[in-house]
This record gives sequence, structure tokens and C-alpha cells, in this order.
Amino acid sequence: MRITEIRTASRDGVLKPRLDITAELHRRVIGQDEALDAISPYVEIFQAGLAPPGRPSGVFLLLGPTGTGKTHTVEALAEVLHGSSSNLIRIDCGEYQMEHEVAKLIGAPPGYLGHRETQPVITQQKLAAASSERCPLSIVLFDEVEKAAGSLTRILLGVLDKAHMRLGDGTSVNFERTMIFMTSNSGAREMAKARSGGFGFARTVNAGTDPAPAGIETAGLAALRRRFSPEFINRIDRSLVYQPLSRRSISSILDRQIDALEQQIAARLGPRAFQFEISSEAREMLLSEGSCGTYGARELKRTLQRRLLHPLARLILSGGIPEGAFVRVEKARSGGLAIRPRLPRRIAS
Ligand SMILES: Nc1ncnc2c1ncn2[C@@H]1O[C@H](COP(=O)(O)OP(=O)(O)OP(=O)(O)O)[C@@H](O)[C@H]1O
Ligand SMILES: [Mg+2]
Repeated sequence: MRITEIRTASRDGVLKPRLDITAELHRRVIGQDEALDAISPYVEIFQAGLAPPGRPSGVFLLLGPTGTGKTHTVEALAEVLHGSSSNLIRIDCGEYQMEHEVAKLIGAPPGYLGHRETQPVITQQKLAAASSERCPLSIVLFDEVEKAAGSLTRILLGVLDKAHMRLGDGTSVNFERTMIFMTSNSGAREMAKARSGGFGFARTVNAGTDPAPAGIETAGLAALRRRFSPEFINRIDRSLVYQPLSRRSISSILDRQIDALEQQIAARLGPRAFQFEISSEAREMLLSEGSCGTYGARELKRTLQRRLLHPLARLILSGGIPEGAFVRVEKARSGGLAIRPRLPRRIAS
């Protein structure tokens, strides 16, 4: 994969290559430019050694409709910083909806039932393991934060405020070299309603500011305020509202997903890998079937799986794609897709 580099002068005046984080994020996440532009300054401040002490290096709340790239942004940042989209700690807050379940996160105190068995989900070692030699900044994602039990929200408040979490066994975890992301789609319905009133929506907003401007920001912030205390909201550096994906964005995401599928085939099948080509009618069909306002780009993934990946898998299993073949995907008369392996010329002749 091509990496965008910019050159910066180090103290000795020598130009050294540095990753252009903004450009790298923009290549991976489509149609959410303002959200991405709000994140990279915090990474650069950390990398320059200027992050304020005693708190995480950045605290973000990502709001907006389902399937628009909130979790994908965090995974993309992990990939850019650490080389792998899974190099992050991910807490699914839906698993901590009951007060007693929070012991799973921080470990049970000594003497309590399950103390030995309950290993905390976050420890200092696990945080360190989520960073890399390339970048000592760990990413922690609290997905669907609106589902968190009150006790988890209180623990989070300590993390956001003092970069500190006390575990069940009394030890503590320091979050200074950490970037915290929380995602939520609470208020998504209201945002959709605000959006239907016109365009020009979905700007990034500073948490804790006056909610006076009408529209989508207000809807997102109102939902936020209903769910979290003012102390909690005041500790969020940026609340970013994700836009519903336009057809143009969905179209570029489709191209990226097709490229990714091709790379996956090459990586998985090795010498048995094949190339494929999709006709413009077939691509158009995938696009309209995969463009569903309700599920964002999720429907696109499902459509590719149903229309392309599964039929290709069946062809592979039945031996229908000879080694070195080239696969052409066209729109079939019946309405679906026709997948036609073409033999390599030397075998065909
Ligand atoms: N803006 C985008 N750019 C590129 N790919 C995207 C984008 N939005 C969604 N996708 C694709 O769709 C998948 C689902 O998106 P994602 O997990 O980020 O949704 P989400 O906004 O977190 O939704 P939810 O609120 O339901 O968790 C991603 O894995 C990615 O492949
Ligand atoms: Mg998500």
C-alpha cells in the first residue's frame, strides 16, 4: 500500500520522512472529511511531545448514523499509526450494561468471588501492547458508549479527567499515552430528521458549547446531553458528527471494497489467485443494491458478500476457476450477476 509521506526538518536540520496522518485517514475513510481533520492535530501534538500531562492525548465522541464510518475511522487510525487495524483496545459497552458486569472490565477485588478468574480487560501491559514501535500512542475504543452502565460511565469519567483507572486489585492504569474514542448513534433518528430539513448539515462541533445553532449539530448534542452528565461532556475534546453517506461516497467505498476483495483473493489463494473484472452495468447493480440509507455502507459489504464473494467461493469449490484464469463479472439477463471464468490463453488455445 502506498504511504503518503511529508518531509519535516528535525532539530539537526535533516529532512526526515513523516507520515501524513490526515492524508492516510482520508484514503481510508470516505466522505467524513471534517471528522478526520479534527482528529489528526491531536496525534501530531502527541508526536511532537506537546500533549498536556495528566489526561489522555485526545478524547473524541463520534456520533451519527449506523454504517457511516465511526468505528472504521478508529480502525483506520490504528492501521495508520501501528500498521494493523486491530492494534487497539476495543470495549463494547453493550457488554457492560448491568452494574455488576463492570467487574469484567476492571477485575474483581481480592477476596471477591471470581477474583482469580476475572482478568481485567484493560491493564497497563495491555495498553502498552496496543501501541507499537512506530508510535507509542495507544488507541482505546469504547463502542456504543450510550449503552454503558452508570458505573462504567463513572470509571470513564476518571479516565477522561485524570487519565487514571483503578483496577479491582487496587493497581492503577495510566491513560496519558492514549487516545480515547467513544462511538454512539444515540440521537441518530433526530439527526436524520434534522437532515431531511435541508443540506449543509454535519459539521464538527465542540462539546460543551452553546447548542443554539439549529439542525443536526443541535440534535446530536441534545441526545448527548440527555445521556451524559455535564462533567462527562466537558471532558470530551471533540464531538464529531458523522454524515449520512452520499451516493458518491458509497460509490468510492464500493471501489475500495472491490480492491480489498481482490487483495484478499491474492493473499488467501496465493498461486491459485485470479484477477477479476466487473463490467460497469454489474458495478452499477452492486451500487444500487448496496446503497441503503438505513444501514450506510454496511449494506454494501453484505451485497458484495452475497453477489460476489459467495458465488466466487462456490465456483472455487466446484473447481470452476482453473489456475491462472481471469474472471469477468457481468450483469445477467435474469437480473443477478453472471460470473464467467475465462481460461488463460495458453490453455484455451
Ligand atoms: N466513511 C466510510 N469510508 C469507508 N468505508 C466505510 C465508511 N463508512 C462505513 N464504511 C464501511 O462499512 C463498514 C461499517 O462501518 P462502521 O463499522 O464504521 O459503522 P459505524 O458508523 O461504526 O456504525 P454503528 O453505529 O452501527 O457502529 C466498515 O467496516 C467499512 O468497511
Ligand atoms: Mg461502530
